[in-house]
Amino acid sequence: MPSPAWTAIANQPVPELKTIFESDAGRLSKLTLTHGPIRFDWSKTHLTDGLIDAFVQLSEEVDFAGRREALFAGEKINNTEGRAAEHPAERGEGKAESVAQAKALHSRMRGLIDVIEADGLGPVRHILHVGIGGSALGPDVIVNALGDEGGRYDVAIVSNVDGTALEGAMARFDPHATILAIASKTFTTTETMLNAASAIGWMQEAGVEDPYGRVIALTASPEKAMEWGVDETRVLPFNESVGGRYSLWSSIGFPAALALGWGAFESLLEGAASMDRHFRLAAPRENAPLIAAFSDLFYARILQCQTRAVFAYDERLKLLPSYLQQLEMESNGKSVKADGSPVDGPTAAITWGGVGTDAQHAVFQLLHQGTHIVPVEFIASKEPGHSLDPEHHRTLLVNCFAQGAALLRGKDNADDPARAYPGNRPSTTILLDDVTPEALGALIAFYEHRTFANAMLMGINPFDQFGVELGKEIAKSIEKDGPKGFDPSTMALIDLALG
Ligand code: F6P
Repeated sequence: MPSPAWTAIANQPVPELKTIFESDAGRLSKLTLTHGPIRFDWSKTHLTDGLIDAFVQLSEEVDFAGRREALFAGEKINNTEGRAAEHPAERGEGKAESVAQAKALHSRMRGLIDVIEADGLGPVRHILHVGIGGSALGPDVIVNALGDEGGRYDVAIVSNVDGTALEGAMARFDPHATILAIASKTFTTTETMLNAASAIGWMQEAGVEDPYGRVIALTASPEKAMEWGVDETRVLPFNESVGGRYSLWSSIGFPAALALGWGAFESLLEGAASMDRHFRLAAPRENAPLIAAFSDLFYARILQCQTRAVFAYDERLKLLPSYLQQLEMESNGKSVKADGSPVDGPTAAITWGGVGTDAQHAVFQLLHQGTHIVPVEFIASKEPGHSLDPEHHRTLLVNCFAQGAALLRGKDNADDPARAYPGNRPSTTILLDDVTPEALGALIAFYEHRTFANAMLMGINPFDQFGVELGKEIAKSIEKDGPKGFDPSTMALIDLALG
């Protein structure tokens, strides 16, 4: 039985996008919002005044404001694991005690960075960061987007257990000038621990005098790092209540802080904090993460869109789609609500994407003429990330905006259906003033809160990820006891490839 709010949402007329601006002169200003260096534009989506009102009704029905306060108050809203979700405290927003603790741990990180910069660990030119999932994707997005600003260290972030990844990084680096950052919240993750052991072996083989003396541990399990052989002075802990995919603000962000400089890292945190304050205080109709969640839910549940696509029209943000895949799909790819009951409809859409303009020459055919309706998100920056002829950036942006217009408007062709474009296809545009630490911090925090808002409106817990466990357990059992009792296909594959 749908709730009154869901009934109201479902009863709203679905507008014709092509003509949506004609019926409402104020639409552009109503559906755009500027927060600091970021402008959000939802005017080319199906959101209408009526739909937004109905979604606001839903947010009241689920006590969204109360759930949001619980997040910032450090309550144990991750009920299945009995934990709080205190990533905002890393940015200075949240329970005073947790904010103070995060600040102290940041000071510790800064202290170690000062030591490294003063050659206290010997000469350092390379940072080899091993970690996976949230312990890699976050710092990787940041270093990729902003790494050139400082350009002080060469950073490689290695996640895959496939040795090809680590070997490639090691081939570039001088083992005598490398520090190894082991990033793992649990300090038990198979891939990370194997990569870390191989990196130590590489240093030993090269005759590095004290390889363990060049290891930094970034973890919420400091005792495990010390057992592994990292000296306490080089363990940079973070709070257990910071989830893996929300951890780039903590010591997991160490390679970014080192590569960009402490000032830039602080600006990243401040950008995120400004989005925290906006999310916490702005009224629902002016609240960027909440409006974005309304749009997500409309497409997932009312138009039954199974995917959403994110295209960064900026090479600096090329890793953002991969980062968002973990954030959104690991958080909200659930089938049960926080109380264990089945969900009321589809949850997280499948997030996918790439960079413009490359994607235009690959996947945009389906977006314009395929049978799936895919809500598209364009992210662009007014300023370029390079100093080449301004024509490059102009062409990039013109293409970005043209794609949104084409999806909306379409084009009839009565003579040749193969050349007709249906149009009426939704897109959102997020335009940054520039890809600065502050803007990137705010952008990523926007996505975190949007994911949280989606979860609260659906009644699910976005902070656990039990779905990833079964495959890991089976892999461990094969290693421990050998392949036993699997289906014939799995048994044959193991036999053929592993003997
Ligand atoms: O397998 C999923 C996961 O637990 C992610 O949530 C996490 O970001 C990643 O593994 C890495 O975990 P850890 O930081 O503990 O090594």
